[in-house]
Formats: sequence, structure tokens, C-alpha cells
Amino acid sequence: MITLDPIGTVRSKYTDPSQVPKGTGAKHDAEGVLEIRPEFEAGLTDIEGYSHLYVLWIFDRAEGFHLMSQPPNADRPHGVFSTRSPHRPNAIGLTVVELLGRDGPRLRVRGLDMLDGTPIVDIKPYLSSIPVETLRRGWLGEAERRHS
Ligand SMILES: C[S@@+](CC[C@H](N)C(=O)[O-])C[C@H]1O[C@@H](n2cnc3c(N)ncnc32)[C@H](O)[C@@H]1O
Repeated sequence: MITLDPIGTVRSKYTDPSQVPKGTGAKHDAEGVLEIRPEFEAGLTDIEGYSHLYVLWIFDRAEGFHLMSQPPNADRPHGVFSTRSPHRPNAIGLTVVELLGRDGPRLRVRGLDMLDGTPIVDIKPYLSSIPVETLRRGWLGEAERRHS
């Protein structure tokens, strides 16, 4: 077993999973705050220089997992590790957010898909060096083409 100590909490306008946009083409532009615990504030030093951040968090309101499931807009079931389902063996969420500003231990961000109160376990700078034309989007790419 691994024990994680959250570094902070998401403050989001979403209080229920049904409020979060879902499916191909869903826009994630919700703004909110990553409230970091005061004892970790020094770890935010120099974070203002980044436009985007990876946020690692816990699906604290998801129960259990399914190795196969059919996400919204999919035409067949897919394995959990080829989806972003909340119902995974380790309930870890990953969201890329735009950093709008920092007020001490509070990071104002855009692009939240987490519920209010979600525990944050880590933050890292987003640095993608993979040219977009080399990315394959798997079954999701097929679904996007079907729905475009
Ligand atoms: C499809 S998941 C993707 C999350 C993240 N971007 C990822 O890829 O890991 C997003 C959904 O997780 C659900 N969700 C958000 N916060 C949650 C929480 N704290 N516990 C359980 N489910 C949550 C919402 O229903 C939301 O629509």
C-alpha cells in the first residue's frame, strides 16, 4: 500500500459529476482555485513562469473500478487504461490547467474538470515536446471523427 498526503484541495464550481462537460468535443474552460496547504507554499516558488500545469488528484468520490467500460460517445467498450474513467484500480486523476495567477498558496486556474473539494496530490509544470502530428489518438480519434 502507498499512502499519499494531499498537498491541497480543488475549489471548483462543480459539486456533482453531472455538471462536468463530458464526451468528445467537451470544453473544459471552468475557472477555479488550487488551494495549496500553507506548509507546502514554498514549493510553489517560481511556478508563475509556467502557462500550464499538470494537476494530479484523487477521484475521491468514485467507487471501485471496471477494467472494461464504454465511455460517452464510444461505440464499444474499451480497457480502463485507454480511457480517462474515474473508475480505475488506483483512483488518480490527471488534468492540464492554464495558470491564470497566484495569490500566495492559491493558484487561479482555467480548465478544471474536478469536483469541489477534490484532493490534490501533486502539481508539475506542463512541458510537452511531442509534435502534435506524431500523436495518435486511439479510439478517441475515431470517435472525434464520427462526431465531427
Ligand atoms: C473523465 S474524468 C477525467 C479526469 C481527468 N482529466 C483525467 O483524465 O484523469 C472527469 C470526470 O471525473 C468526475 N470527477 C471529477 N472530480 C471527481 C472526484 N473528486 N471524484 C470522483 N469523480 C470525479 C467528473 O464526473 C468528471 O466528469
